Order: sequence, then structure tokens, then C-alpha cells
Amino acid sequence: MAEFKDISPNATAGAKLNNWLNNRFPTAYDAYKVHMSEYYAPKNFNFWYFFGSLALLVLVIQIVTGIFLVMHYKPDANLAFASVEYIMRDVPWGWLIRYMHSTGASAFFVVVYLHMFKALIYGSYRKPRELVWIFGCLIFLMLMAEAFFGYLLPWGQMSYWGAQVIVNLFAAVPFIGPDLALLIRGDYVVSDATLNRFFSFHVIAIPLVLLGLVVAHLLALHDVGSNNPDGIDIKAKDYPKDASGHSVDGIPFHPYYSVHDMVGVGVFLMVFSAIIFFAPELGGYFLEYNNFIPADPLKTPPHIAPVWYFTPFYSMLRATTDIMVNVFCVILALAAVFAVLRMRLSTMAKGAVIVGALVAILLLKVFDAKFWGVVVMGVSVIILFFLPWLDKSPVRSIRYRPGWHKWVYGIFVVWFFVLGYLGIQAPSDVKTLVAQVGTLYYFGFFLLMPWWSRLGTFKPVPDRITFAAH
Ligand code: HEM
Repeated sequence: MAEFKDISPNATAGAKLNNWLNNRFPTAYDAYKVHMSEYYAPKNFNFWYFFGSLALLVLVIQIVTGIFLVMHYKPDANLAFASVEYIMRDVPWGWLIRYMHSTGASAFFVVVYLHMFKALIYGSYRKPRELVWIFGCLIFLMLMAEAFFGYLLPWGQMSYWGAQVIVNLFAAVPFIGPDLALLIRGDYVVSDATLNRFFSFHVIAIPLVLLGLVVAHLLALHDVGSNNPDGIDIKAKDYPKDASGHSVDGIPFHPYYSVHDMVGVGVFLMVFSAIIFFAPELGGYFLEYNNFIPADPLKTPPHIAPVWYFTPFYSMLRATTDIMVNVFCVILALAAVFAVLRMRLSTMAKGAVIVGALVAILLLKVFDAKFWGVVVMGVSVIILFFLPWLDKSPVRSIRYRPGWHKWVYGIFVVWFFVLGYLGIQAPSDVKTLVAQVGTLYYFGFFLLMPWWSRLGTFKPVPDRITFAAH
């Protein structure tokens, strides 16, 4: 046990209370120092660095509003829809709590997408922050699961049929698919059993995992230190240090960034409140109009689309038609020919490439395009995990990469939006074709990254971070 620290009997009551607590819970004081008052972050954080703390804020909003919603919500297929209406009309301030939660779900994805984009352009996922990134990707997966399970709870037409469509995707998995779908639903159709298990996942299982992952994300980040818009390591051994041994370009998180982040919080809360009070449905993007109709297992809505944050991935699923599978086969064959003719491989390795490509093409043709669509959708998220090893650029930040790299990133973002838009629309031949091109760009961006990320003329990286006082 650590030795008790004495305090003068003449000290103020506040100082005495502080001393009393410090003697009994020093770990809390140490944690405060390590993560707040003595966590040195680079002093050149910009706009993009608001989104991590905003993601934390939205997480808290979702948990607190969620707790109040559960007090009045009924996870029962006969009562769920009416209980949400009861919250909206009769529970004091219920409408506000519900709109905060529904808007919070979309806000979470807006904030997290921007947060991920920051990491992408500044190379924050690269050594030594690979684990920070991987925990982030796991958080993203859990967030998607959380949103999917939560969406069934109001038991509206979209909740019901959206769940039906997504669970049926699992049925496309060869051999185990139908049993897997049955296990997820707990019944042969989406029913009360499904609602109960989704409720359980939404309110306890996933939030617990999410919280654990967020803690791991931040602990891992604080172990290696934050990156910054220059991608320069201020904790490197040869980086200039001040008399106390801290990097000259590091500033304590508290009070500098705790106060700085308040600006982001202020602006965020203004936009968040404007949506809640003036446009909580946001034109059907945040709350879909069809979901104000109670679930009817006998009446399929004419057009079923997931909520906007899933649509880029959903678009890639729908783009995977028979023709697209043929395109995959051609790409695989060309890649194998290129590897055999142009790469310096041993005869054994060449043989392995040819056999591997043939087996892959055979599998692509044997299983249904619907199944490959599910695979494409899954891989489009899983591929993010590999980013730290796909990027071979000699510098981290976009600031010091060749100018045309910005175009590669810019076009990637445009395609992500286009895919997102197409995923909401009813499919047509032209839209499917556009989505197919977008899907190829999306995968090309990642799979060809080991090649294109090292091409071009890189700008010299300065010895110290660039910072203009404002
Ligand atoms: C609940 C969701 C999340 C929360 C609460 C969260 C929280 C944070 C916070 C507070 C920071 C430090 C401040 C900052 O750099 O903005 C951070 C950094 C970071 N996060 Fe997240 N995060 C979340 C999701 C994600 C996701 C989905 C990814 C990527 C897939 C990710 C990747 C990163 C990376 C790479 C950093 C280091 C950034 C740097 O140092 O430049 N995070 N996160």
C-alpha cells in the first residue's frame, strides 16, 4: 500500500478532501495525469481532430437517451410500435428523448465517417498506430450491428422488412446459410422471437462490447501517442525536447484540447439541436416515412432500402450480378497472368498462383452471384482492417504526398457518396452499371494501394511539425 500523504490542519476544506481522496484512490489521480493533464498531444491539431471527442459525446448521448427509452419501450411484437407512439405523444419529453436517440444514430455515423477520413488522409493507421486503427474498425463493425439491431425495435414496416432482407442475406451462405438465418431470427420469419433477441443485443450485448472497444482504442492511442496533420512523430527519440523531457511541440491534453474540443462540441450541438427541433426525419433519411406504418408481415413495401449509413455497402452487394462475377473472373485471370509473366516468382510460386486463380474462378462460377454479393459487402468493410499494411507510401500525411494522390482520395470519396446515393434508389440497369464501376474503384483503391501509394514525387517532410499560432 502506498504511504499516506499528510496535509496541514490549516489547509482549505477542498484541499483536505482532495488529499483524502488521493490517499484512498491514487489510481484515479494517476489515470487523470496519464490521460489528461500529462498526456502530451501535438499542438497542430486541426478541424479533423474534433471528431474523436464528438464520437465520445454521441456515445454518451446514445447511452443516456437509450436508458430513458427502455423505461417506456415494450419489446413485444404486439406492443412495440404502440409503445414508441406512446413515448412520442404521452411520455413527458419522450419525443425529445426519442428524437435525440434517432438523430444520434445518424450523427454517430456522420462523426465516425469523418473521424475515419481524418485517419485516412493523415496516415494515422500506420505504424505504431495499427492497433488503434484495428480497434477503430472493430468499433465500426459493432456500430453497424448496433444500428441494425436497433432499427428493428420500433417494429415499423421498414424495421420489419429491412431485417427480413438482411437476415435473408445470411441464408445465401453455402451449406450453413439457412440454419444461420434461422438462428439469427429464432423463427422461420422475423417475429416476436427476433424482436426479443435484437432488443437484448441492442441494449446490452453490443453496448458492452462497444464500450470495451472504445476504452481499448483510447488506451492504445495514449500508449503510442497521437498522430497529427503533418504525420510527423513528435515522440520520436531525436525530436527536440524541453527541459522536462517532453517534446517541444506537445501540449497537455487538459486544459488545451479539453477546451479546444468545446468549440467542436458547441458547433455540433447547434447542428444536432437544429435537426432534432426542426427536421427530425431529415427528409426521410434519418427516420424513414415507411417506418411510421406498423409492421405487416403480409404486405411487402414496394421499395426496401437500408438507412443512409449502410447504403454504400448495400450498393456494392446489389452491384454483384452475374455479369459482375464474370468481371471478377477476368480480373483474377489477368492478375494471375501478370504475376506469372512480370513478377520474379519461383516456379513453385507460379504454379501456386495459377492453381489459386483457377480454384477462385471455379468457386466464383459455382456459387450464386447473390452469395458473392454478400461476400463483396462483407469484404468491403473487412478490407479496412488491412489498411496499415496496404499503404506503402514513404510518408504518412497527404500533405507530403504527390499532388495526384489527393485526386485518388477525392475520387474515392465521390464514389463513396455515389454508392451511398445509389443504395437508396430503386435499381435500374444504368444505376447498377454505375454502382459496378464504383465498386471496382472502391476495391481498386485498396487492393492496388501497395502499388500506387509509392508512386510519384513525394515532398520533403520537415523536421518539426508546422504550426501557425492563431
Ligand atoms: C465510438 C466510436 C469512436 C470513438 C468514441 C473514438 C474516439 C477517439 C478519440 C477520442 C480519439 C483521439 C482524438 C482524435 O484523434 O480525434 C481517436 C483517435 C483515433 N481513432 Fe477513433 N473513435 C471511434 C471510432 C473510430 C473508428 C471507427 C476508427 C477507424 C476505423 C477510428 C480510428 C482512430 C485513429 C486511427 C485515431 C488516431 C488519430 C490520430 O492520432 O491522428 N476511431 N478516436
